[in-house]
Amino acid sequence: MTRITLSNTSLAESNVDAIVIGVANRNGTLVVAPGAGDVDKAMKKRLTAALTELGATGKAGEITKVPTLGATKAPLLVAVGLGDAPKRDGQYSEEAVRRAVGTAVRTLAGARRIATGLAAVNGSLNGDGVRPVAEGAVLGGYAFTRYRSRASKKDHKRAVGSAAIVVPDPRDKAAKDAVDRATAIGDAVTLCRDLVNTPAADLHPADLAEAAVEACGPAGCEVEVFDEVALAEGGHGGILGVGQGAANPPRLVRITWNGGPAGGKAIHLVGKGITFDTGGLSLKPPTAMEWMKADMGGAAAVIGTMQAIARLKLPINVVGWVASAENMPSGTAIRPSDILTMRGGKTVEVMNTDAEGRLVMADAIVRASEEGATTIVDIATLTGAALVALGSRVYAVMSNDDDLREEMVAAADAAGEQAWPMPLPDELRKSLDSDAADLSNTGDRNGGMLVAGLFLREFVPDGTPWAHLDVAGPAWNQGDVHDYTPKGGTGVPIRTLVEWLESRAG
Ligand code: BES
Ligand code: MN
Ligand code: ZN
Repeated sequence: MTRITLSNTSLAESNVDAIVIGVANRNGTLVVAPGAGDVDKAMKKRLTAALTELGATGKAGEITKVPTLGATKAPLLVAVGLGDAPKRDGQYSEEAVRRAVGTAVRTLAGARRIATGLAAVNGSLNGDGVRPVAEGAVLGGYAFTRYRSRASKKDHKRAVGSAAIVVPDPRDKAAKDAVDRATAIGDAVTLCRDLVNTPAADLHPADLAEAAVEACGPAGCEVEVFDEVALAEGGHGGILGVGQGAANPPRLVRITWNGGPAGGKAIHLVGKGITFDTGGLSLKPPTAMEWMKADMGGAAAVIGTMQAIARLKLPINVVGWVASAENMPSGTAIRPSDILTMRGGKTVEVMNTDAEGRLVMADAIVRASEEGATTIVDIATLTGAALVALGSRVYAVMSNDDDLREEMVAAADAAGEQAWPMPLPDELRKSLDSDAADLSNTGDRNGGMLVAGLFLREFVPDGTPWAHLDVAGPAWNQGDVHDYTPKGGTGVPIRTLVEWLESRAG
């Protein structure tokens, strides 16, 4: 990941491989955004003219490269489009800045050091100016190169080494805090993306559990791993049932961050950690399986979030759960019509072994409620129906509590992620009735995302606020790179969760 520094060396004098400035569009003409004054001066006030000559328009994401031919210390100037310039007294949105910086850092992959003046686009050079620039740089400065042989690494360049953000006072507390927060979030997102991108052969449930220990332990969390023996002793029928067909046994992980009052109750986060989802005996067709290594994206986001809040020392108690199994077909696999006894005693008839996520999640939700969770938020790549409903960049928020649902959507908005509220219609609940057990794991196909949410709601105690985030779409970028989002694992919804926990911490 790109490392962020603060610098008071002017952009023109910065001794780096490339300098990055912002440009925008005002009524059809290019304008250079604030923060590039000294570069313009070094170019004899011809910066706007030169960029216009090169065809720059300022539209969002546009990249224009200019060789500086000695005018500045850096050999290369990169102008990145911010989109429409704000109206008088208006501001560039944080997300516009994040995306522009992310795009620039992504296109400059391979460079060792860059510097940018973009913290000044809204005139403020303290934390508010630095924050979106630092975030855009860490989010855009990502490359998954673990499996590239040396020779091909040339075509798959490393992320930019370091990005210097130009500010008048690099020792300003607000600016430094903004960099620390962005770095903690960037490390969490990077960890999550790496875990999601790692093939299932190299990430069994035990490896995912180990990743939680390694990421969250040193950050100051307590991490406890429950293996298959402990899961059996504790009656975790959902996690064990899903995992019983696999050679690699399941795991449940509890990650505890006690930043709040000692002995106080905690908010619980629960993540779906299916390291590979073949569908089980209800086998998926080959194309639907192509990226099912990403079916642990919810769990990876929980691990990343716990690491980030511990590093930021949030004054709040939070427990994260990773519910992990590999969903494989085999002679020992769970069969359609088998009945599982879940943690807490409810029975579930498994009509479709591909609806496995809700089974592992239910056990972990019960564990969270046994510990007196004040609020439960679960994060899961739960249904294909979520993609049908909201596309691949927006995730769904369902909840038994209107305020909590609104808080989550607002936190996503503030953090630069896209979430949308979805209902839990009571009339769909009866489709989950089973002829033989307390519940069936499948119900009405129509509204499949909502039915999955209603299934999980059965395991939440009355009176406990609970939100269900179905991130099947945005946890994985099936499409091309865009803005600061790479192909593959994205790190969604870590930024929402950190933002929300910060607001809960006060
Ligand atoms: N992991 C899938 C959901 C999924 C689909 C995530 C596509 C990301 C992209 C989940 O376990 C699943 O298979 N759900 C089934 C449920 C159905 C059998 C009720 C689905 O959505 O088809
Ligand atoms: Mn499935
Ligand atoms: Zn799944």
